[in-house]
Amino acid sequence: MDDFINIALPKGRLGETAASLLEKAGFGCPQALQNSRKLIFENPERGVRCFWVKPSDVAIYVERGAADLGVCGSDILAEQKPDVYELLDLGIGRCRMAVAAKNGFRDRPDRVLRVATKFVAIASDHFRRKGRQTDIIKLNGSIELAPILGLSDVIVDIVETGTTLRENDLSVIETITEISARLICNKASEKFKADRIRTLKDALHGITER
Ligand code: PRP
Repeated sequence: MDDFINIALPKGRLGETAASLLEKAGFGCPQALQNSRKLIFENPERGVRCFWVKPSDVAIYVERGAADLGVCGSDILAEQKPDVYELLDLGIGRCRMAVAAKNGFRDRPDRVLRVATKFVAIASDHFRRKGRQTDIIKLNGSIELAPILGLSDVIVDIVETGTTLRENDLSVIETITEISARLICNKASEKFKADRIRTLKDALHGITER
């Protein structure tokens, strides 16, 4: 787009942690962390521009080059399979993707398993690998309601503290994968802005915990 390094950050808690990491690494954008409706912030000295996007839109901005870099959960990468490079595990936004059901749920392997989830690709891939026939039901939120109301047998969803499951009498049956936030990069930017992207990546690498 121009001579800045454009970074798509996910709106919300993860994005705020990522913005603080950028700041610590010396590539922060002043005011980006002040609550306002403004969406784009610049740090002309470091040649960095940050903008807030919906978490599930980060990868598309990066894939299409509207952003050079982005911060994106590995759950979203596994779900959307965008054509981008993954540069770094930032070690933030840690949680897991799990299969959960009502406490005491007994699986009937002879029956098609009804699975409610926001993550259709992750759930389909997981049960395909296990050779299990499923009926995947796509929901957009409050997934935990589905088994309670009999809409599904199980759910595939993100578990962070486990509180949502516990408070709704559900429990994890199986962990599919651990999740954390990744620094992703547009494929052309990785070539044409190589030096600056490497400097930023190394600075982040120096301060992230793994
Ligand atoms: C996510 C996820 C669980 C919850 C897990 O929901 O879908 O509902 O967080 O966190 P916990 O293990 O710490 O309780 P989110 O807040 O993203 O809302 P959603 O209902 O739109 O999925």
